[in-house]
Amino acid sequence: MTPPPIAAGSAPGKIILFGEHAVVYGHPAIAVPLSQVRAQARVVASSSCTVAAIDIRHQVAVASAPDDDPFALIIRLVCAELGQPLPPWRIEVRSDIPIASGLGSGAAISAALARAVLAAFSASLPPSRLSELVYEVEKLHHGTPSGIDNTVVVYEQPVWFVRGQAPQAFGVGARLPIVVADTGVPSPTRVAVADVRHGWQADPSHYEALFERIAACSRQARRAIEAGDLRTLGVLMNENQALLTEIDVSSPELARLVRCARQAGALGAKLSGGGRGGNMIALVAPERVASVVAALETCARRVIQTELLPHASGTDSDPGQSS
Ligand code: PMV
Repeated sequence: MTPPPIAAGSAPGKIILFGEHAVVYGHPAIAVPLSQVRAQARVVASSSCTVAAIDIRHQVAVASAPDDDPFALIIRLVCAELGQPLPPWRIEVRSDIPIASGLGSGAAISAALARAVLAAFSASLPPSRLSELVYEVEKLHHGTPSGIDNTVVVYEQPVWFVRGQAPQAFGVGARLPIVVADTGVPSPTRVAVADVRHGWQADPSHYEALFERIAACSRQARRAIEAGDLRTLGVLMNENQALLTEIDVSSPELARLVRCARQAGALGAKLSGGGRGGNMIALVAPERVASVVAALETCARRVIQTELLPHASGTDSDPGQSS
């Protein structure tokens, strides 16, 4: 019989509304949690410290796993942070966030594992520190991550993110319905990020100009979100998608879903995350959500509805301060 869990922890997926790729080069981006999909971890008593990733049938002994095993690394980092030896626990993790599809699966799994272990030790960490630990694991997945995934997944609230700075909260002026649609094509972020880097190295001034235009979209989008101006936000999403296509991180499958969403009445649509596959997001006026969902269901692997709810800046806990 499986022993009862000692503790549990979870973390959401995420979507990037504006600014992916440019964010790696120091420009701002906007990301929000996607709580409709989550990673869930639980700790049960055992004879040694192991992690079992149930969905992918991967099990590792934390003490002897290679340095680049992401599951073992997060457990080692949390234990080192608390000054604890590896405990005799089996830590199980499950996730319904698709892997390599722009929804922050790796960061959510690390955050869920860390939270479960912290809870089992009756300990906690400030989100800024937990985010740093998850970032260490993100480096294994991505090479040169900006840090946006670990930040939004740990803080679990919309963030204005600039690499190397504390994340900022911002207000949301109106309900923003978003439809997320999966191309079903897995695409490792590391590859797309490396290709963009090659392009930037070959023609820095062209890429800098494109990143600056993406940054301008993010800045205008923040004002439009605060003002609750859905129409402007949709136009900016389309502009951001055109710029992402220019840096060659879109794909025929993403372009097809973007077209499908726009034809069904979305205000704007773009890829989200590393691109080349993975997920697309569409901003949709509330009265159009049902028809956009129905259209995307005919051509996407999976469709998820989410929304940002209106709130004033600072009424939620500030990502820089919250616990
Ligand atoms: O593909 P995802 O969900 O890991 O998002 C990556 C976002 C990038 O800007 C492309 C990379 C990064 O580290 O910020």
